[in-house]
Amino acid sequence: MEKLAIDGGPQVRTQGPIVETDVFEKEELDALIEVAQQKKLRRAEATIEYERVIAEWFGVKYAIAVSSGTTALHIALAAFGIGPGDEVIVSPYTFVASDTAVLEQNAIPIFADIDPITLTLDPNDIARRITPRTKAIIPVTISGTLQDMDPIMELAHKHNLWVLEDACQSFGATYKGKMVGTIGHVGVFSSITGKIINTGEGGIVITNDTDLYEKMWGFMDFARKKSLGPASKYHWGLPCTNYRITNMQAAVGIQQMKRAWDMIHKRTENAEYLRTLLADVPGIVLPSEQSYGERVYFYFLIRLLPEILGTDMLNFAIALAAEGTYNLDYLSTTRWMIPQHLEPMFVDKIGYGGTKCPFECPWYEGEVSYYKGLCPTAEKACDEVFWLASVHPLLEKHDLDDIAAAVRKVVFAFIEKKEKGIPINYATDEIRARL
Ligand SMILES: Cc1ncc(COP(=O)(O)O)c(C=O)c1O
Repeated sequence: MEKLAIDGGPQVRTQGPIVETDVFEKEELDALIEVAQQKKLRRAEATIEYERVIAEWFGVKYAIAVSSGTTALHIALAAFGIGPGDEVIVSPYTFVASDTAVLEQNAIPIFADIDPITLTLDPNDIARRITPRTKAIIPVTISGTLQDMDPIMELAHKHNLWVLEDACQSFGATYKGKMVGTIGHVGVFSSITGKIINTGEGGIVITNDTDLYEKMWGFMDFARKKSLGPASKYHWGLPCTNYRITNMQAAVGIQQMKRAWDMIHKRTENAEYLRTLLADVPGIVLPSEQSYGERVYFYFLIRLLPEILGTDMLNFAIALAAEGTYNLDYLSTTRWMIPQHLEPMFVDKIGYGGTKCPFECPWYEGEVSYYKGLCPTAEKACDEVFWLASVHPLLEKHDLDDIAAAVRKVVFAFIEKKEKGIPINYATDEIRARL
């Protein structure tokens, strides 16, 4: 057995952890300088052009660029008319923004369980959780994996529900020949640093529905009416805010869109290379592919099989970090998903202003509670699925070689320890408390 770095052996990688980084070339810089020289820093022509480019790329009628993926989700729910008393079904295997957007509208996130292979919502479980208060479903194509959308659209049609595709991590994926994000009523993407296209911060909504478009446009910009042009004041008498993106971000976004397919394909190439390097490693399951479409890759996810490795994910994560490929400090932000229904804000029903609103609120006629066991498949996935590495386009072959070598080393050492009855306990109480 090769001695693990955590046990005092040599590290697989000594040049420092692999850091997620974005493609940002001369074209992006020139575009940024151009809007600055024009003194057009806030939303203006470059943003309108960015929206046109995005809409054309997705083959939809409308796109709106906003300040983040989170605010994109929010304006979509606002445009659907979601409000107090309403329930919205959402995946528990996601980033927190997918469900806090529901809270922003004072509505109740209802978590349905996921499919263990795709890690996206299980339509049968969605069906079980629909009530007369359900108004929308938010499927999340996590890390570029695919959601079987047909059953969701059938449920939506049957129960008159809105469908908001949170495609923040799956820019460029397709489902049955359609772009992910164009199947539901609205699709949402994030372009924060690290995502498939990058504008530093930023989000996008796309839709074919003119009414939703006009409403979302208004919620993006203080409830102004787009059709009235720049002179438009505040016409809706609705709660409103400012979710505009700047021209600087949009100018970068236009350049990113010129290289979008190249970046997407490079990610897939990196994922395929990792897949080849790890194909024969026991005790792990490699990312799934679905027959109904072409997925993309945000991160490369591996499922750890505790019965073969003889230990839990935290011990694996600690031993892997010691091999030098990634920084353990980012474990709980980028490598390890928390089931959303077990976040303290849900378990303890923490609302704004120190209240339990909207969870316990006179407008809400249902009863909701969030507890362990609510979505067992998602909980198991959170225990076992490790976000091994971003497969961003700037990774070099030797980075991927290091990642795979570190995984192989840890896996084979763990299996040998298990066979010899050597206990694995790197995850001390102190480390568990810190992470
Ligand atoms: C699935 C998902 N939804 C929503 C968001 C929110 O996007 P942003 O960080 O741009 O607000 C993110 C990304 O961070 C995400 O991964």
